Amino acid sequence: MARRRKTLLELAEACAVPTRWACRSGVCHTCDTPLLAGTTTYDPGPLEPPSAGRTLVCRARPETDVVLDQ
Ligand code: FES
Repeated sequence: MARRRKTLLELAEACAVPTRWACRSGVCHTCDTPLLAGTTTYDPGPLEPPSAGRTLVCRARPETDVVLDQ
């Protein structure tokens, strides 16, 4: 069985990186964060995707190394 990658929010919390979030389910967009480099995927996807160049860290799972802005 393939191991599922953690979300960016779970990874940030594991490393004590401060983040913004509210619903953790891809609805509120409180966690909408600029994605400066790398790619992410959603599984399951958010209700509405973020705009280009941004990611919802509560649902996004990294596909590559990523660089996020605050
Ligand atoms: S915390 Fe609500 S969309 Fe991510």
